[in-house]
Amino acid sequence: MCRAERLCGTETVFIYPPSCSKFLEIFSLDLGGILTVVLNGYDCVRECLYHQSEVFADRPSLPLFKKMTKMGGLLNCKYGKGWIEHRKLACNSFRYFGSGRRLFERKISEECMFFVDAIDKHKGKPFNPKHLVTNAVSNITNLIIFGQRFTYDDRNFQHMIELFSENVELAVSGWALLYNAFPWIEYVPFGKHQKLFRNAAEVFDFLLQAVKGFSQGRVPHVPRHYVDAYLDELEQNAADPGSSFSYDNLIYSVGELIIAGTETTTNTLRWAMLYMALYPNIQERVHREIDSVLCTGRAPTLEDKQKMPYVEAVLHEILRFCNIVPLGIFRATSQDAKVNGYTIPKGTMVITNLYSVHFDEKYWSDPGVFLPQRFLDSNGNFVKREAFLPFSLGRRHCLGEQLARMEMFLFFTTLLQRFHLQFPRGIVPTVTPKLGMTLQPKPYSICAVRRQQKVPSCGDTPHHK
Ligand code: HEM
Repeated sequence: MCRAERLCGTETVFIYPPSCSKFLEIFSLDLGGILTVVLNGYDCVRECLYHQSEVFADRPSLPLFKKMTKMGGLLNCKYGKGWIEHRKLACNSFRYFGSGRRLFERKISEECMFFVDAIDKHKGKPFNPKHLVTNAVSNITNLIIFGQRFTYDDRNFQHMIELFSENVELAVSGWALLYNAFPWIEYVPFGKHQKLFRNAAEVFDFLLQAVKGFSQGRVPHVPRHYVDAYLDELEQNAADPGSSFSYDNLIYSVGELIIAGTETTTNTLRWAMLYMALYPNIQERVHREIDSVLCTGRAPTLEDKQKMPYVEAVLHEILRFCNIVPLGIFRATSQDAKVNGYTIPKGTMVITNLYSVHFDEKYWSDPGVFLPQRFLDSNGNFVKREAFLPFSLGRRHCLGEQLARMEMFLFFTTLLQRFHLQFPRGIVPTVTPKLGMTLQPKPYSICAVRRQQKVPSCGDTPHHK
């Protein structure tokens, strides 16, 4: 039976709607004593995150987040001065050391080359692409944060990323929920929450050493990367007792930026590879478009994006269909809110069901079908779709969207320009995702077979029918 709870102050009133539509726009849950509201469908998510952006801009004070980052850093930071200061610094750094620089595009292209060369070493034989994609993608964030990349055989960096990514899964495990409801289980010596804490401590130590190492030789006010820029802020605000800049918050934000940028973009590219092998006809159209635009065999640049509407459509459909961050990152209300006649008290945890936005039948026809064409008009031009929110919306929307878009386009086109992707004979991997804060494919093997680029005369446009 469909049931909703009307929230008024501390009191909850059950409502039984007259007709049960497929899903309710808003309902509440009690997650072990944590009052939680779930927002479903595009209209409801937009109403809250866009029209009431500030009200829904907080993060919940969950015991787990408190233990991990003391509600500081950037991603888990409470809404207020600390978050504003950290978000501003990160946005400026991303622009200054990253997407705002022409040179940066060249750096991504260089990484793309390391990436495809490493894949080439498998000589068309089956391999699991997870490790290579993770290393290549995280290196783009590393360039902004540390000014340097890590080689693909750097065992220490890889180990850190593995622990971090394991924590992204553990953070939504039953044990994490249990810890949030009963924080005293911290003193129970067994259970996955202990693994989570051990991983977090190891990651912290690695990042501390990395920050120390990469800040050596720093000249104040001449920042080379995010860490230098942060240390400048820290020193400038040293006399201000209200400043949120601290050495701990530096380590937390570095970790959050690395993991937020790596897990998501890596999973998108891993899904993209899987779906290309699963749908050879779609892959063939991607190949045709790439060959027609990069007709001399040159490497792709961001300028080529406008000329590749089909590639754009495929990447958008991957983001919609695969729902990389299905429930967003938990939000909280920063003050009492009113939504569709419901009152949501200040401090309530809010789950933004982005999955339901991407499968909202009011905005998508046949949402359960993988169909890149839904992002093309009848002339084959790329069209934006309103109910497309993989990066969420409002004040806390993804800070790395622009960077992620650059990376996805350049990695994907470089990869498909050089290779044909296929599964090992007789093996078709499952598309059922592995659950966690992010949805990722279960480990799979794929063959990247070097292709002979068909060279149409430049300007030949492929048919988008
Ligand atoms: C395909 C790639 C990506 C996807 C799908 C994605 C998605 C998201 C989503 C859904 C959120 C939650 C926003 C909310 O609270 O409602 C988020 C937040 C965030 N993302 Fe991304 N993201 C991607 C790539 C990146 C990259 C490359 C970076 C940076 C290197 C990044 C950094 C962040 C940060 C720092 C936040 C927290 C923002 C805040 O709390 O103010 N993301 N992302």
